[in-house]
Amino acid sequence: MTKAIDTINYTHVFGHRHLLGIAELSPHDIEYLLERADKAVSVSRQVEKKKMVLRGRTQINLFFEPSTRTQASFELAGKRLGADVMNMSVASSSVKKGETLVDTAITLNAMQPDLLVVRHHSAGAAELLAQKLVGCSVINAGDGAHEHPTQALLDALTIKRNKGRVARLTVAICGDVLHSRVARSNIILLNALGARVRLIAPSTLLPIGVERLGVEVFNSMEEGLKDCDVVMMLRVQRERMTGALIPSAREYFRFYGLDSERLKYAKEDAIVMHPGPMNRGVEISSEVADGPQSVIEEQVEMGVALRMAVIETLIETNDRLDNEKKHKEEQK
Ligand code: CP
Repeated sequence: MTKAIDTINYTHVFGHRHLLGIAELSPHDIEYLLERADKAVSVSRQVEKKKMVLRGRTQINLFFEPSTRTQASFELAGKRLGADVMNMSVASSSVKKGETLVDTAITLNAMQPDLLVVRHHSAGAAELLAQKLVGCSVINAGDGAHEHPTQALLDALTIKRNKGRVARLTVAICGDVLHSRVARSNIILLNALGARVRLIAPSTLLPIGVERLGVEVFNSMEEGLKDCDVVMMLRVQRERMTGALIPSAREYFRFYGLDSERLKYAKEDAIVMHPGPMNRGVEISSEVADGPQSVIEEQVEMGVALRMAVIETLIETNDRLDNEKKHKEEQK
């Protein structure tokens, strides 16, 4: 880490075979993954980027929704660890002939993968696969509007490397919270690590009862941004909107877009984040996205390191739990 970090429990034993959501992780699990990811950053910055710890292991990436950052970084992460990585092209697979998600997964499972990374438009898809597959870890790369755990973890890593900690920081998550799995995973993670979380959005883009998640809610950017350490912008997800939830892109930018004037309400050293893909001129101006406070490119870099840490941890955990199970059975 570039600055002092919160206390890490180095003796922590990670106990999950799958990564389906942040909600299932303890604060120690989160810190453990962040610490491992921080170490993986240096591997990606070397000329020789390969660590062959997963030689002979197979990772399948199964994306039912478009992705640039998540799919590419999972592919790079697996390859940098030495695994064989296969990207399933859903568009040219038998899914197009009506094969169900479970049948597709059972077919892939018969090929003995060690890891399945899945993005799907339905909430709970990754969990369903984790129940059906045997001997294979499942990572949720985004399921409907439910969770996107590796995005929240890479965001936390970026915050820690810039601010030295997550605890006691004020983080504003701004925009289309209603459709955002990124917002949901971040709210859970930031609360778990002791940050103060604010949501800034028009009422039409906030889930009903969102206050129950332990956040402060604002409808005005100027009020909500006051004294924030981190400004996290969200993409307006028009493809998930069923009605007219925003009047027009122009109107939206007028009231909820982040430009350099509005950013002045946050702390002078506040960092600006966006999970991507960005709608420039809708939720964020180019001046801010490409400006000195933006850490958006760093988020992408952290994505590879964080996914390396998650993949390595899950495969190690799966091996350990399988060995323990086998040992117990032999003792019977
Ligand atoms: N942040 C994110 O999930 O981006 P992609 O949709 O490009 O993977």
